[in-house]
Amino acid sequence: MTAQIIDGKAFAVTVREKVAGHVARLVEENGITPGLAVVLVGEDPASQVYVRNKGKQTKEVGMLSVEHRLADTTSEEDLLKLIDDLNKDPKIHGILVQLPLPDHLDSDLVINSIDPAKDVDGFHISNVGLLGTGQKSMVPCTPLGCLMMLREQHGSLSGLNAVVVGRSNIVGKPMAQLLLGDSCTVTIAHSRTKDLAEVCRGADILVAAVGRPQMIPGDWVKPGATVIDVGINRIPKEDGKTRLVGDVDFASAVEVAGAITPVPGGVGPMTIACLLANTVTACCRANGLPEPEGLTA
Ligand code: GUN
Repeated sequence: MTAQIIDGKAFAVTVREKVAGHVARLVEENGITPGLAVVLVGEDPASQVYVRNKGKQTKEVGMLSVEHRLADTTSEEDLLKLIDDLNKDPKIHGILVQLPLPDHLDSDLVINSIDPAKDVDGFHISNVGLLGTGQKSMVPCTPLGCLMMLREQHGSLSGLNAVVVGRSNIVGKPMAQLLLGDSCTVTIAHSRTKDLAEVCRGADILVAAVGRPQMIPGDWVKPGATVIDVGINRIPKEDGKTRLVGDVDFASAVEVAGAITPVPGGVGPMTIACLLANTVTACCRANGLPEPEGLTA
């Protein structure tokens, strides 16, 4: 049996439509326009593409989009001053500092200088701690997108065996916390895990976030499992061009899984949609308004 393909691109459209509906209501009923500030330091080409897409989609859902593009020689002091100004700016409800930062800047220091209530990436240590203790927090966008797709697929996740392959602060760890919050039995595995194949075969939900192209073959997948592939890896093709692949070997896994996200078109589009969702959530919280339904963890 071939797996159902989970269409992240289509799902992201529905999330953005929900966000746009909430934004329209905030504007009409409360006179508030949610605002997102994105800070890019340097000229990393991939980051420039991400930032451009973020700005475009932010405007499309009716929010205020503010971009700060700084030279790669920007001092830590100047960057911290900008973040302080954004923290104090009542028009700005979400702040995102695009990573990676140039080497001379301390990413942890910079991220932890963002007001946690405006930390729409969910990377501030306060938000990490709140998520880890099951309290209301800002949740990192990629894991939030994965959770939304899993809830849509399964309804309740309670009691399911979830294996997260990858232990990054951005995806693996928060993903595990979210799955635990939805009452899964969670294993965090990684490249050093003993008999990783056997661990993966126990998963009803398999989330691959290791950053190694096509590392997980179909025979590591439990028949009928839901596979969420967070990997975005560019590999060479025979004709000298490149193509994007995930951390899962899609061709073999699609024959075994019950449902699977493709790369591209799976998790990727959900990440920016969840950034917009987090910005609306931050705006509602900042104004003491009810949280937008279906857009939070
Ligand atoms: N760079 C790559 N992914 C991300 C992300 O989710 N947030 C930020 N701030 N930078 C990134």
